[in-house]
Amino acid sequence: MIIGSRAAERAQSAAEELGHGVEGADNAETARRSDIVIVAVPWDGHGKTLESLREELAGKLVVDCVNPLGFDKKGAYALKPEEGSAAEQAAALLPDSRVTAAFHHLSAVLLQDPEIEEIDTDVMVLGEVRADVEIVQALAGRIPGMRGIFAGRLRNAHQVESLVANLISVNRRYKAHAGLRVTDV
Ligand SMILES: NC(=O)c1ccc[n+]([C@@H]2O[C@H](COP(=O)([O-])OP(=O)(O)OC[C@H]3O[C@@H](n4cnc5c(N)ncnc54)[C@H](OP(=O)(O)O)[C@@H]3O)[C@@H](O)[C@H]2O)c1
Repeated sequence: MIIGSRAAERAQSAAEELGHGVEGADNAETARRSDIVIVAVPWDGHGKTLESLREELAGKLVVDCVNPLGFDKKGAYALKPEEGSAAEQAAALLPDSRVTAAFHHLSAVLLQDPEIEEIDTDVMVLGEVRADVEIVQALAGRIPGMRGIFAGRLRNAHQVESLVANLISVNRRYKAHAGLRVTDV
């Protein structure tokens, strides 16, 4: 596994902190050397980052987890990207990649905590090609407690991305790292 950064040295020190054989490299090298690339940058830098990596990401399975959100004194709220969603912006900017969207609701705090053995949540996975979606579902399923659930085509990514604004409200009120479960599946 490789962690990317705009600066290779930042990636390397993040990778060292994580251990377990994780490597660090700049974003271009990370994209070039990976089969599956998870895009986890702030919405502000999303378009520019992907545009600059178009070649390196060609043919790759791209998993976008970016939530276009604004924050003001009332809390978090969903932004409305011109393309419909961050995922659809990714698909528009990366015509030669296999773009999917997932992990929007997964708390980085829980993911990073070495004391936590299971994460009690489902991961909504969106995409156009069933085989690609199934790879991402399997990836989510590797984390104990988690399931990857198909949640529609990319045109329905906006609702999934937006729901994070609601989860942030839940987290603030209940001092939690809330996840979601899809029932009867
Ligand atoms: N945090 C969560 O729990 C969580 C959960 C699900 C989804 N997400 C989504 O994941 C994305 C990243 O969230 P985060 O909490 O990890 O945010 P973050 O810590 O602010 O950003 C992650 C990394 O992105 C890089 N970055 C910052 N500004 C950038 C820019 N303008 N252009 C390109 N790269 C930039 C930075 O790395 P370098 O400076 O080293 O390049 C930074 O360490 C967001 O879109 C968020 O909605 C977050």
